[in-house]
Amino acid sequence: MIGRNPNYGDDPGRCIKRAHGTLEYRFSPGKLMEIVNIEVAGGHRNKGIGSSMVMEAFEIARKEGCVGVYGFCRPENTAARRFYVRLGFSFSPALLDFYGSREDAVVFHKLIARQQSPNS
Ligand SMILES: CC(C)(COP(=O)(O)OP(=O)(O)OC[C@H]1O[C@@H](n2cnc3c(N)ncnc32)[C@H](O)[C@@H]1OP(=O)(O)O)[C@@H](O)C(=O)NCCC(=O)NCCS
Repeated sequence: MIGRNPNYGDDPGRCIKRAHGTLEYRFSPGKLMEIVNIEVAGGHRNKGIGSSMVMEAFEIARKEGCVGVYGFCRPENTAARRFYVRLGFSFSPALLDFYGSREDAVVFHKLIARQQSPNS
């Protein structure tokens, strides 16, 4: 849980809540928001709840002046990966043994800051 993990530093984390879903996030140095966890209760998935929480997280991150949003995900979590791709995230290559016990992770990341067009 957020706030009990020393890796999360000083930010104890906050939650976006829905009736059947929760998204936990925190702010990291470098004007970044980390999505620490997102979960929609079984039986209530595929109804747009997860997407609406991530969209709300983007709004909060922009208001706080963040340049990007990121998080960690198990490479084999194909449903979550599809979900993040639909929301415009890109993925890093696998980070080997990230979770320990030979469990790898991938980083999902998306820039949200206004960007200069490459042609201007
Ligand atoms: C990943 C997770 C949070 C997504 O939440 P969700 O509420 O099901 O997400 P959404 O409904 O917004 O989108 C999921 C799918 O539903 C579809 N969808 C979105 N709104 C919809 C609607 N109104 N009606 C029907 N389908 C809809 C999306 O197109 C998407 O389809 P896809 O399978 O092609 O990706 C959820 O599956 C979950 O809790 N998984 C277990 C925990 C987990 O793995 N967390 C991520 C850890 S990194």
